[in-house]
Amino acid sequence: MAEAGSGAPEVAQATEAVRVAIAPRAPRVAIVLGSGLGFLGEGLEGTARVPYARIPGFPKPEVIGHAGELIAGTLEGVPVIAQSGRFHLYEGHDAAVAALPVRIFAALGVRTLIVTNAAGGIRRTYRPGTLMLIADHINMMARHPLAGRVVEGEERFPDMSDPYDRELRALARRVATDEQIALEEGVYAAMLGPSYETKAEIEMLKRIGADAVGMSTVPEVIVARARGIRCLGISTITNPAAGLGAQKLSHEDVLVTTDRVKGELGRLVRGIVRAL
Ligand code: HPA
Repeated sequence: MAEAGSGAPEVAQATEAVRVAIAPRAPRVAIVLGSGLGFLGEGLEGTARVPYARIPGFPKPEVIGHAGELIAGTLEGVPVIAQSGRFHLYEGHDAAVAALPVRIFAALGVRTLIVTNAAGGIRRTYRPGTLMLIADHINMMARHPLAGRVVEGEERFPDMSDPYDRELRALARRVATDEQIALEEGVYAAMLGPSYETKAEIEMLKRIGADAVGMSTVPEVIVARARGIRCLGISTITNPAAGLGAQKLSHEDVLVTTDRVKGELGRLVRGIVRAL
């Protein structure tokens, strides 16, 4: 596993492998596909697929328990690269490993990152299936992808006062209105996981200003900001957070909900990419 915050040589090697595998494609936008949201990668045209096993420095599939791949192609005529399969911190990966794909995207010339995820709803009005634009985040993972040596091209203390780009959020809201898609906006809190939260933890998250809770996204967005990439995040609210609904939480229910709203989310992402 990579040393936290290290990685300049491994980023260079991994980037070269990806660049060669997807040539002559030169993606300008990266899309990280969250749980149950892999379908977005299937909509790309003229694709080149790079299995993680072929990228030096990526964790082995037997460690991550699922096959992952990067898919380069065009979406709405825009050259994009989609990341299908995340490295979660709850799988034991360093935050720097979770964010390694973003460092590769940056080195490939990507200027815009769209991250999607599944999240539990904390704000009372959120229902399973609600789409939430991420306005801001709270890092409750007690991990940081930039801890350790400073990687070339990144600052020691990057500004995080506005990590989710204002213009992109305004664009997302416009597309949602045009497409008649209801789009909420709120604060995403990232927990380490892998257990779902206790009721007391959800009460705490509510009091500190979180509207939704999940176990991803924050490491990727931090590194993207350190690289000057502008970010847009969209959460699919899959369940009421612990204690706010009648049911026990299960991953199956999360997948059922992401499947139900995939049409809307797909239209939203396509509309945003089209307008970039
Ligand atoms: N908590 C944390 N992560 C999640 C949840 C949740 O309730 N739902 C989907 N991902």
